[in-house]
Amino acid sequence: MGRFESRVALVTGGASGIGAAIGRRLRAEGARVVLADVAPVDTGDDEGLVAVRADVTDADAVAAAVATAVDRFGRLDLAFGVAGAARFGTITDGADDDWRWTADLVLHGSYLTVRHAARAMRETGGGAIVLVSSLNAHVPLYGGSSYAAAKAASENLAKSAALELADDRIRVNAVLPGLVATPLTEGFRSDRSLHEDFMSRIPQRRPADPEEIAGPCLYLASDDASYVTGTSLVVDGGWEISNYADLRPLLHGEP
Ligand SMILES: NC(=O)c1ccc[n+]([C@@H]2O[C@H](COP(=O)([O-])OP(=O)(O)OC[C@H]3O[C@@H](n4cnc5c(N)ncnc54)[C@H](O)[C@@H]3O)[C@@H](O)[C@H]2O)c1
Repeated sequence: MGRFESRVALVTGGASGIGAAIGRRLRAEGARVVLADVAPVDTGDDEGLVAVRADVTDADAVAAAVATAVDRFGRLDLAFGVAGAARFGTITDGADDDWRWTADLVLHGSYLTVRHAARAMRETGGGAIVLVSSLNAHVPLYGGSSYAAAKAASENLAKSAALELADDRIRVNAVLPGLVATPLTEGFRSDRSLHEDFMSRIPQRRPADPEEIAGPCLYLASDDASYVTGTSLVVDGGWEISNYADLRPLLHGEP
């Protein structure tokens, strides 16, 4: 028996990267899965997998994606709010609409996912929601203020939702990935100096594979995390703790 054998899950942003990895892991562990994305998904002949076109900034589209899970599989137990992207630019010189575009997708999209998923979950006695925030919720991003601020807000949204939904037996948590090798970060990783800069900050000296983010997300959705709600799990190869003071010269007797 897989961990999620009788469960039904919704994954936003399920066409690519981290969301696609979560979808694969859920199917492998027995869940029936609805992938919601603005991009198409080829579900092949898998009867336990459904793809819906949905923009997470559109309330009707998110409600319809949740309704698809209930109509096709009878219930909704798990939701993963993964859809995300960013338009970068500095606060003074970025394009007028980009700040709001990014904040709308990252924060309002997360809110709509929690709102509509929780309404379905409470009908069947509870569930678990995981929001994929970012290490940039804790560590600022030069040229990415909207993304970083909205990710901090989505991390905090998970905590408010956890409070409000505890009586409905719905747990809500956030995962904060560092640098992950997905299409979203292709530009960062293919620019040599940017790549070297990232590697100098990450103690494990490599980006994560999307599967390494999917695993912690599934843990938070699983019964192993039955007493875990309103918290955040940083999954960053040590990036957040890398701004450390280094006493090695003292220990080795150097002046
Ligand atoms: N890759 C990283 O280094 C990294 C680090 C921290 C957090 N994250 C976050 O993880 C999440 C997944 O990112 P990824 O790296 O897998 O990127 P990705 O580009 O591979 O996947 C993102 C998916 O979201 C979908 N999407 C974008 N806008 C959407 C919308 N309005 N409605 C529905 N779907 C939409 C895209 O079509 C795509 O399939 C994002 O929220 C991202 O901010 C990524």
